[in-house]
Amino acid sequence: MSELKATITAVGHYVPENVLTNAELEKMVMTTDEWIVTRTGIRERRIQKEGATSDLACRAAQAALHDRGIGADEVDLIIVATVTPDMIFPATACLVQTKLGATKAWGFDLSAACSGFLYALNAGSRFIESGAHKKVLVIGADKMSAITDYTDRNTCILFGDAAAAVLLEPSQEKEFGILDQVMYCDGSGAEALNMKGGGSLHPPTHETIDKHMHYVYQDGKTVFKKAVVSMADVAAEIMERNHLSGSDVGWLVPHQANLRIIDATAKRMGIDRSKIMINIEKYGNTTAATIPLCLSEWWRNGSLKRGQNVVLATFGAGYTWGATFIRWSLANPAERA
Ligand code: UT7
Repeated sequence: MSELKATITAVGHYVPENVLTNAELEKMVMTTDEWIVTRTGIRERRIQKEGATSDLACRAAQAALHDRGIGADEVDLIIVATVTPDMIFPATACLVQTKLGATKAWGFDLSAACSGFLYALNAGSRFIESGAHKKVLVIGADKMSAITDYTDRNTCILFGDAAAAVLLEPSQEKEFGILDQVMYCDGSGAEALNMKGGGSLHPPTHETIDKHMHYVYQDGKTVFKKAVVSMADVAAEIMERNHLSGSDVGWLVPHQANLRIIDATAKRMGIDRSKIMINIEKYGNTTAATIPLCLSEWWRNGSLKRGQNVVLATFGAGYTWGATFIRWSLANPAERA
């Protein structure tokens, strides 16, 4: 284990202004506000009208850099976790690099769906721990509305658009920062959650478009069963490895796919509802953005405090899942004042 630790030294997020409510979805597909709220916890989500994922990502990154008080030219590496890249290539990270003016940075995209941010945080932290880099931007950004079928009630009620970013730097204090990470994947889950069209298996044709293959497909029940067990298991695993009890954890930050999955994870961890970051009601499932979006909102409103133990937990397409244990080092605006 490396002596150098990576820590989060800035956070920022961006959500588009345009709101899509459950009431509006009632007019688009056969659904009800009551069904959506009781089955998922979602009341509304944001939809980006103009621009693409790189624009969401840039706004989030700019917020983080502004808060840290540094220019984009100080960034060494940009990792963008996304399943909605602006284009298949070049990487969205390259577009973000240019739009930000991060003249000295290199970058790449990481595809792990809803686990994208935790995977990218893991990758980014290794570049800090190895001593290779001093400033790494890790961004979770998804314009899910671009790949959502608004005629499919099984999926269109779930997703929204957002981005959030963190800056990683070497920790000045070795008991603070990203202290442990556990990641898994199981490709046998590919059948249950995917977007089939547009890749090398099914290049775009009239047929792939007619069959709605360029949209998210999800077998919700199958994914739900696996998500409930996997997210709770991996959260419990990271707590055991680090000798943490429920009362030691300041915040659980779960991926926001379904309130019932979040509650099941918290129950398994022995954590009270009051210590879980939940904003699914406002944004729905924003895929790679959900976890850093929570961190940014809770930090900004003064609830996420320096010294707190924070457990991030996720589950998504792949299947991919994982958990990260952080001792939070960044003083929030109220603590700084
Ligand atoms: O983020 C990455 C990982 N993804 C997840 O973790 C998501 C996991 N899955 C889920 O969160 C849930 O499975 C869903 C929210 C997607 C669905 O909830 P569910 O309780 O599993 O519902 P279901 O798919 O089993 O459907 C139950 C019923 C069905 O009707 P019948 O067959 O019982 O008559 C559906 O056709 O609800 C129906 N239904 C709807 N009804 C009203 C499905 N979607 C809707 C809808 N409005 N939007």
